[in-house]
Amino acid sequence: MTDPRRPTSLVVFPFKQEEVSVVASNLRIASAHESVAEVWAVAAAEDAAMAAVQSAAEDIHEGPIRVFAQERLGSLRSGKGDGMNTALARAAESGFGRVHFYDADITNFDRSWIDGAEAAADDGGYQVVRHRFPRASTDAMITWMITRPLLAKQFPGTVLPSLGQPLGGELLLGRSAVEALASDRFVRARSDWGIDTVITHATASLGFPMYEHNVLDGKRHALYGRLDEIRAMAIECLDAAISLRDRARPSSTGLFAADPPAPAPSDLKHTVAYDVGPTIELLTEGWSPEEQGLAESFPAGLRDEILANIDAPSFDFMTAEVWGETLDTLGSGFVLGDAAWESLAFRLWLMRVLAYTTKEALWGYDAAIGYLEQTIRDYEKGADHHGHR
Ligand code: DGY
Repeated sequence: MTDPRRPTSLVVFPFKQEEVSVVASNLRIASAHESVAEVWAVAAAEDAAMAAVQSAAEDIHEGPIRVFAQERLGSLRSGKGDGMNTALARAAESGFGRVHFYDADITNFDRSWIDGAEAAADDGGYQVVRHRFPRASTDAMITWMITRPLLAKQFPGTVLPSLGQPLGGELLLGRSAVEALASDRFVRARSDWGIDTVITHATASLGFPMYEHNVLDGKRHALYGRLDEIRAMAIECLDAAISLRDRARPSSTGLFAADPPAPAPSDLKHTVAYDVGPTIELLTEGWSPEEQGLAESFPAGLRDEILANIDAPSFDFMTAEVWGETLDTLGSGFVLGDAAWESLAFRLWLMRVLAYTTKEALWGYDAAIGYLEQTIRDYEKGADHHGHR
């Protein structure tokens, strides 16, 4: 049990170009919390955005805040992973008992996020507390279409397919988890958007007791326009999930508990998370001969459906089942950094997202989320069936 008079927790916000007023408000809220000894804002680079946050932090006097730039630690694109790993490395060398991570752009961050995580760590002794929250039915399309399906296919029967936000950046890590992650070379190498996925896998496979805590109001953050705004994230999360394929399988008996499912707030149920029309246009734009060649190597029926997009958008065919086969093909062929593979993988993901958006997402929030959950169970069952256990 933590002594409430002696704060020992650290709260970390990796940031890049987020709205400064939102970042500053989150720094203030975290630093005012009685369990929090220090707050770190880890900048993607020493640039104007970092200077702006630094100057905003100087006006916050609730508690100590340090603003510094991330180090180059990993071997992939330098992104959020270097930020989280910089904080993990420094936290492992310091005396903090717990480390919280939060995305800097959350617009409804308040002390209840910290309370919820601290309470689960205090009461249940959890080394890992992951925040889970409702999101619009057309938001979280990387989570639903890439990360969760691949975890279900690769790790059926373990805790991984059941986690609501496997690429969520909102979590609490106990001291042992911080030390283990800071010395994990696979985690440290993942300097890009794939970091959350590999941390999720690492903490589960190390067997740390894990809790999922519900944030009832959902996570409010800036939504998207055309989905190419999150192209790099989609591709890097795809690569990260594929990279786990031959890695340790978490034991199916690891200690795991979660808050019970809760209803989503009503405004979230009517939010459309991205611009559908402009996104459809991305299906036909700029096919290179190399990308076309890769699409030609897909299984016959699928190949023609995919290639039809060179002339006109076509995506109805990309059902959950067809997407499952597509992920299998990507799993054995996709090459991060290869322009043609990246373009094709992104386009295939768009086809899947658009097929779902224009069909099941129209059924209404609860039916749509129920459908998405069922797809994950089906991928898991399919993998069991093929003996991937
Ligand atoms: C996801 O899919 O969870 C990403 O945050 C993009 O919405």
